Amino acid sequence: MSDQTLSNLLKEDRRFEPPADLAAAANVQEEAYARADADPEAFWAEQAERLSWDTPWSQVLDWSDPPFAKWFVDGKINAAYNCVDRHVEEGRGDKVAIHFVGEPEGDTRDLTYSELKDLVSQAANTLADLGVEAGDRVAIYMPMIPEAIVAMLACARIGAPHMVVFGGFSSDALASRIEDCQAKVVITSDGGYRRGAASGLKPAVDEAVAKAAEAGHQVEKVLVVKRTGQDLGPDGWNDDLDVWWHDSVEKASTEHTPEAFDAEHPLFIMYTSGTTGKPKGILHTTGGYLTGAAYTHWAIFDLKPDDVYWCTADIGWITGHSYITYGPLANGVTQVLYEGTPDSPERGRWWKIIEDNKVTIFYTAPTAIRSFMKQGREIPDQRDLSSLRLLGSVGEPINPEAYVWYRHVIGGDRTPVVDTWWQTETGMILISPLPGVTPGKPGSAMIPLPGIAADVVNEEGESVPDGSGGYLVLTQPWPAMLRTIWGDDERFKDTYWSRFPANAERPTPWYFAGDGAKKDDDGDLWILGRVDDVMNVSGHRLSTTEIESALVSHPKVAEAAVVGAKDEDTGQAVVAFVILRDEAIAEADEPGEGEDVVKELRQHVRTQIGPIATPRQIMVVPELPKTRSGKIMRRLLRDVAEHREVGDVTTLADSSVMDLISAGVSSGKED
Ligand code: WTA
Repeated sequence: MSDQTLSNLLKEDRRFEPPADLAAAANVQEEAYARADADPEAFWAEQAERLSWDTPWSQVLDWSDPPFAKWFVDGKINAAYNCVDRHVEEGRGDKVAIHFVGEPEGDTRDLTYSELKDLVSQAANTLADLGVEAGDRVAIYMPMIPEAIVAMLACARIGAPHMVVFGGFSSDALASRIEDCQAKVVITSDGGYRRGAASGLKPAVDEAVAKAAEAGHQVEKVLVVKRTGQDLGPDGWNDDLDVWWHDSVEKASTEHTPEAFDAEHPLFIMYTSGTTGKPKGILHTTGGYLTGAAYTHWAIFDLKPDDVYWCTADIGWITGHSYITYGPLANGVTQVLYEGTPDSPERGRWWKIIEDNKVTIFYTAPTAIRSFMKQGREIPDQRDLSSLRLLGSVGEPINPEAYVWYRHVIGGDRTPVVDTWWQTETGMILISPLPGVTPGKPGSAMIPLPGIAADVVNEEGESVPDGSGGYLVLTQPWPAMLRTIWGDDERFKDTYWSRFPANAERPTPWYFAGDGAKKDDDGDLWILGRVDDVMNVSGHRLSTTEIESALVSHPKVAEAAVVGAKDEDTGQAVVAFVILRDEAIAEADEPGEGEDVVKELRQHVRTQIGPIATPRQIMVVPELPKTRSGKIMRRLLRDVAEHREVGDVTTLADSSVMDLISAGVSSGKED
């Protein structure tokens, strides 16, 4: 990457030191880095001791057959026992595990660790009755209700790997995943509440089960939670297949003895999209994963016994697995679980939930933060958010403007913001500040956690100097790393380990994350986004993120997405799609004003980054196409920018968005 490109984000020089009181009492202190560095295996063994093992391991790490790692070899452990039973046995049975908040107002329910233990045991007994054995796969397709967590833990308890599919995915997506992992049982609900209405899930399961059957895989049972009580229709129930949760789980015995499984026993499969059309089933195993999730949750969120934690992710994504179910529950936390959308029934719903539950630690995504910025601070300002002491961000690079707004408006300038970098594949956060040790720089994920070896390297795999950028790699294995792609070891090797294979200087291959990153002059890391989103304009490498960040720093812009479109002259050209803030929209609607906004923004990028980054075209649009997890689908925008027919939109949260964008509300071409 050119020096010019890399110096751009470096213009951000705000820095927030850890608050003194938090630093003094922080769970992890500075010394952890050196200690972990000196002996990473001893460090991870120490972290594994946080858990309760049935049989101790004989070896911390077996890396003799890379990229296939084994952690805590010969150790035996039950993940559900660690997340539930041991808290009860240690006298914390009356502690609230889950403050459930349903979307309909007033629909709340608290579950203590004792109650959770009973429910998980009942569900484990029911799954066993339905014929599920250790090793069988169970699909879960549910709304954000406590039963979703119970279902995951019940699977873990009996050693049946779960495969959670986000409730917003279509029946096709569900069917292909069920088929790929050959799920024996599906756990679902009649529906859930979203945007003020009951939204069905069971019909999609019925379709998916039928599609899988056509393809030759027969699901044996469908276990159904009654959440909304909605009508399932005349063909909506099949007595041979369907079993109500309240007729089975809620009547089952609360006695269930968890069996200890090998540390490398599969815990779950989580599908994620790759560069090809076929989703990859990322496989995580038990002992190392739980160690990584529990340690990082405790360390990065500086978890204390009285904290009230809230992560807004859906259990259908990796964040919901590691930082709602496994990490927090292994740590015995009290957490909020919210079913619905942020703006239902009012735009300030999230802030009301924080006020009502006195949430102290809040973990969300930049895309959400930006949409709140767009609505204006008056909405969160109506609530008392003074209970918050720590904020987290995940999922995409957080632009400095959003970071500062988050810290200032939501965190009242008291709260550190931890920008946490990780992936479905990594299972746990790998790069993040530690709130009592590391200062925060808006937009930087800062440094690898203790025990993690990451670097930024060039094409040849040479470490780049401070002030330069390149590819983000992990040079040592870590406990929660993926073990393979379900049923496809070759794809696992190709996708992640072939870019920087073992050679004379490199005794074992490195994990290539697919992200570009940059080291600033202090050596701190700035994640630039997927390398496939890096553009090459006239031989200069430009990051989409960087230009987006520049655009969003303009007072008129609420959100921006940038893509590199093919260009005859320059190879690629920068094309930007922007959503204006409400006030700016009114202005732009005046005759002739729309073009002025485009000019102004182009000039803004030019002065922020330099002429090379000036967008060839800026389109003012009402929405951006996003996946249901909130990631901008640049592929579709590239199609629009290159005037191709718009590609597959089935994973879009709202596919009508593409029509709006193609219609081009207002666009400006280079004069
Ligand atoms: C991006 C989500 C910048 C990155 C946990 C990664 C981030 C991909 C950050 C994984 C961050 C995630 N800063 N980029 N803090 N966190 N990403 O598998 O491109 O849904 O490769 O896991 O999200 O997305 P995934």
